[in-house]
Amino acid sequence: MNFTEIAQTRQSCRSYDTTLAVEEEKITAILEAARIAPSACNGQPYHFCVCSGEKVQEIAKACQGVGINKFASDAPVMLVISEEPYCKMAAMGAKLKGNDYRSIDIGIAAAYITAEATAQGLGSCILGWLDSDKIQKLCNLEGAVRLVITLGYPKEEKLREKKRKALEELVSRL
Ligand SMILES: Cc1cc2nc3c(=O)[nH]c(=O)nc-3n(C[C@H](O)[C@H](O)[C@H](O)COP(=O)(O)O)c2cc1C
Repeated sequence: MNFTEIAQTRQSCRSYDTTLAVEEEKITAILEAARIAPSACNGQPYHFCVCSGEKVQEIAKACQGVGINKFASDAPVMLVISEEPYCKMAAMGAKLKGNDYRSIDIGIAAAYITAEATAQGLGSCILGWLDSDKIQKLCNLEGAVRLVITLGYPKEEKLREKKRKALEELVSRL
């Protein structure tokens, strides 16, 4: 798959086949893609915690409420992305320029993770509706949890039409 095919094929998967486990090589490939993602000053201010089994059930509960993210309980694997401290340069840049580089870095890593998951034939969904404190405790993490990414084989593989703003709305040219 080339990048355009990955971008067009990736979609949030909210229905997982609970009978199919995710191969360890595929998880490694996904983590390797995240490892080589760009970040401000190459600081990589994040940690990835790979969860499966009972832990997924516990984390899923911390991502649910008012009918949101019910599907998360069926995901065979979850990647929990938490913050790590900035490196010195990025910390200085963030302060002087008032820019939240760490959240940007985590977003880029999440994009790499979901793109590689697609390339590996897996479904994925980025979850931002979560209880950071609860997941931090469940995973013994130092930093705040920003995203959880569900991974697994999709139950239904139908590609949905992408509903997006028109380019004219998103882009200006000067
Ligand atoms: C930062 C972020 C947080 C998100 N949080 C959730 C979430 O908690 N639950 C969910 O089902 N989808 C979540 N999504 C997925 C978006 O709803 C989805 O990417 C968007 O609607 C576009 O659809 P697509 O991914 O199928 O192309 C999140 C996506 C991002 C980037």
